[in-house]
Amino acid sequence: MPGKRAAAPCVSGLGVDLAEVDRVRRLAERAPAFLKRTFTAGELAYSLKSRNRYERLAARFAVKEAVIKALDAKRLPLRDIEVENTASGRPEVRVKGMPGLRLLVSITHTSTAAFAAVIAFK
Ligand SMILES: CC(C)(COP(=O)(O)OP(=O)(O)OC[C@H]1O[C@@H](n2cnc3c(N)ncnc32)[C@H](O)[C@@H]1OP(=O)(O)O)[C@@H](O)C(=O)NCCC(=O)NCCS
Repeated sequence: MPGKRAAAPCVSGLGVDLAEVDRVRRLAERAPAFLKRTFTAGELAYSLKSRNRYERLAARFAVKEAVIKALDAKRLPLRDIEVENTASGRPEVRVKGMPGLRLLVSITHTSTAAFAAVIAFK
């Protein structure tokens, strides 16, 4: 007799976002507080060490907007959404105060635009 199987995770939301690299660069240069208001220390450390820093920041901005879409949570502060990269470079995303939430993320960026897709599971 088959044993009990764990319930399969159920997709509860999908979000995508496209961020323009120049827009993020302009915001960062004109209003430096934007960086601290929007990104965590870890995201800033990861992005700013790189030559393509504004691509990476735009990508993280896109992830945050995609998470908001996936969760239908417009009031979620952007800084409460954090992207971290594993040792292999794979991005992971977490939301502060929501430890049980499972999100899948994928990112791509060029010199002009960054795109992120996020799937949320119940
Ligand atoms: C990881 C890889 C797929 C990224 O693709 P890319 O076209 O270089 O760059 P993209 O802009 O599309 O993607 C970059 C993002 O991929 C994500 N990424 C990096 N490593 C990853 C991994 N192991 N798994 C999932 N996502 C990964 C990151 O989020 C990265 O952005 P970030 O550093 O700002 O977080 C690519 O570098 C790679 O390793 N390809 C394997 C094939 C290869 O090396 N070919 C060249 C020899 S022919």
